[in-house]
Amino acid sequence: MTDIRISRRAALLGAGAIAAWASSPARALFQATDSLAVPAFIDALIAKMTLEEKAGQLQLMASAWGGGVATALNPPSTGPSFEGQIADAVAGKLTGVFNGNGAEMARRMQTAVMKQSRLKIPLIFAADVIHGHRTIFPVPVGEAASFEPDLAMRTARAAAYEAAGAGIDWTFFPMVDIARDQRWGRTMEGAGEDVLVGELFAAARVKGFQGKDLAANDAVMACIKHFAAYGAAESGLDYNSVDLSERTLREIYLPPYEAGFAAGAMSGMASFNEINGIPATANKWLMQEVLRDEWKFPGIIVSDYTGDEEMIAAGYARDGRDAARLAILAGVDMSMQSNLYTLHLPELVRSGAVPQAVVDRSVRRTLAVKNMLGLFDKPFGRIDLKREKARSRTKASLALSREAGRKAIVMLKNDGDLLPLDKSAKIALIGPFASGQHDLNGPWVVYGDNAQAIDLATGIRNAGARNVSVTLGSGVEAPLAGGIDAAVAAAQAADIVVLAIGESEGMSGEAQSRADIVLPEPQMALAEAVAKTGKPIVVVLKNGRALALHGAVKDAPAILVTWFLGSESGNATADVLFGVYSPAGRLPCSFPYESGQEPYHYDHKATGRPAPDGPRVPYKAQWRSAPNAALYPFGHGLTYGKVGYGALTVAPTMAWDGRLEVSTTVTNSGKRACEEVAQLYIHDRTASITQPVRKLKAFHKVALAPGASETVKFTLTREMLQFLGEDLKPTVEPGTFDIWIAPSAQADGAKGSFELVKG
Ligand code: NOJ
Repeated sequence: MTDIRISRRAALLGAGAIAAWASSPARALFQATDSLAVPAFIDALIAKMTLEEKAGQLQLMASAWGGGVATALNPPSTGPSFEGQIADAVAGKLTGVFNGNGAEMARRMQTAVMKQSRLKIPLIFAADVIHGHRTIFPVPVGEAASFEPDLAMRTARAAAYEAAGAGIDWTFFPMVDIARDQRWGRTMEGAGEDVLVGELFAAARVKGFQGKDLAANDAVMACIKHFAAYGAAESGLDYNSVDLSERTLREIYLPPYEAGFAAGAMSGMASFNEINGIPATANKWLMQEVLRDEWKFPGIIVSDYTGDEEMIAAGYARDGRDAARLAILAGVDMSMQSNLYTLHLPELVRSGAVPQAVVDRSVRRTLAVKNMLGLFDKPFGRIDLKREKARSRTKASLALSREAGRKAIVMLKNDGDLLPLDKSAKIALIGPFASGQHDLNGPWVVYGDNAQAIDLATGIRNAGARNVSVTLGSGVEAPLAGGIDAAVAAAQAADIVVLAIGESEGMSGEAQSRADIVLPEPQMALAEAVAKTGKPIVVVLKNGRALALHGAVKDAPAILVTWFLGSESGNATADVLFGVYSPAGRLPCSFPYESGQEPYHYDHKATGRPAPDGPRVPYKAQWRSAPNAALYPFGHGLTYGKVGYGALTVAPTMAWDGRLEVSTTVTNSGKRACEEVAQLYIHDRTASITQPVRKLKAFHKVALAPGASETVKFTLTREMLQFLGEDLKPTVEPGTFDIWIAPSAQADGAKGSFELVKG
């Protein structure tokens, strides 16, 4: 029997790890955030610093190493050469660099600073280590599909081990922005649309990166980004304005940031977007009242890449000086890439426009964080060329990448048990992602190499399938001359088609907003032509967001969502295709029928005219051309088992100060073992603030042997029934609640209701 008692803190660690959490030393991380340890030597150091040196400690720049290769992931900018950057660092004009490459770069810069600079303040080396360093794990939204926060903690730990081995002290991760609009390309970088999943993965990733001791040579400081509500960009357009009520901010968008900070993240990044008219980078309410006063965050806030300077174009700051002033006064401790702090802070203080104490406070936080990272004691603690090599792409991290890869795969459909495939079948592997060293790692990889990743054709052959033809059939966004004819011929000669189609790395990620979240037309033409052969098709989707599936793709008997899986892509996919592993992934973001349903999220409100199930009734909240439901909802995912849910056991009432046990039996009547993700949803029928039609409150992965039954039991507390009242304070009201333990946000599963009674 599985018993899950969820307290808010414990919930942040993930259902599978709750018992371990209560007794783990990592627990201290939650408590460590109340204050920042600032040893006396830091204040003594600040007393010796010139204003220019103070401004320098608050200025972070992209590394110019190798001509600034890694900055290709950001807009181009001109700056000094690597040698010039070393000179700046020695002159005290730099706190550190980001996205440089490796221990050799760090060694050269740190050596110069520790030998030649006046105050010998160590540099900090940062990087976008988003889903792996050299070993690449699935894109974060794919990893979230595992519904296993422990897995995210383990991959983050492995990434930290590799990255810290290469001289990296600080990662710009996790991105914890809720993504309710799949047109937004950065869905791939977060944990999807749900608040609870967002909180659990945020906390797990922080713990994984930071470990138990930030000073350890395998710990990397986490950075909660992008603060705040970056994922709520109007019309899913990256960088666009955000206009949200404080209620929606606090109920939906802010909790994952809070969870990440509560888990001990010592840094955060201000987001590019404005919120209700004020850029996040100048938003005092967010950075002072919410972050510092309410959440007691003691660490540092860095701007996003030129985020302070961009307030000029946004129509908020007059010029660079004004932008620097607004950002530092609002609480951005460190400026990334614009150089505005170096250029303007000294004069801003001298003229009285910015109090000296404000700058000193940010410098103090920055030096304290460097100290927590062990940089003052051991400036070369993470810089070791031999260690860098020894830790890179180890057997263990590649094995973890394969495990994470297969756990990320979501099987949307498997009509007639087409999957798993027989290795001896004649397989036509068709599509632009069938083979080749491209689009394996994903859009947000600085250090991993697609050339080292396993493509699908190789994975299928590694699995022992010998009768496999490979045909591209189409480019990703353009047709391939003769491609469709070749693909049709290959399909005709085979027993079964594996159709590898989807989005390229360039189609999702930062700045890749899509008005239509559909498959490109040339790939659809390929799918239609192949379907006409009548051969059974297994669609293997590559994607960084939820897609609206149409035509032959939607109608294919089997569909796997494989995201971007990283180093072991092909092997992980083959594990699922041939049944070495029974898929267990669940959608962290709903797949709508049509793009026009976006923003779409399962936890919507009912409205006063909800559309009934069944035939259409006029004057209801419904689209003319699409159902209200998702084609594949949040939480959906099939396995190779056949899982059924029994009746719900729930007492009719829950006492005000009591707890309520709810349980059901899940049974695997199939012939294969599987893992089922049982999800607990509630609906507060009537409340002083209308509540969503369903809200995820807990989930648990249950292993089921063929023929096995398990009782899944959740314990509800009153805290789990809370919502924000009219005054935006947590409240609970007595009344009737619907409750489900179900396999998805749209499935009935085991359903019931109870009454919360007061007195
Ligand atoms: C801009 C992105 O928004 C942010 O996520 C990233 O960390 C920085 N660029 C630095 O590369």
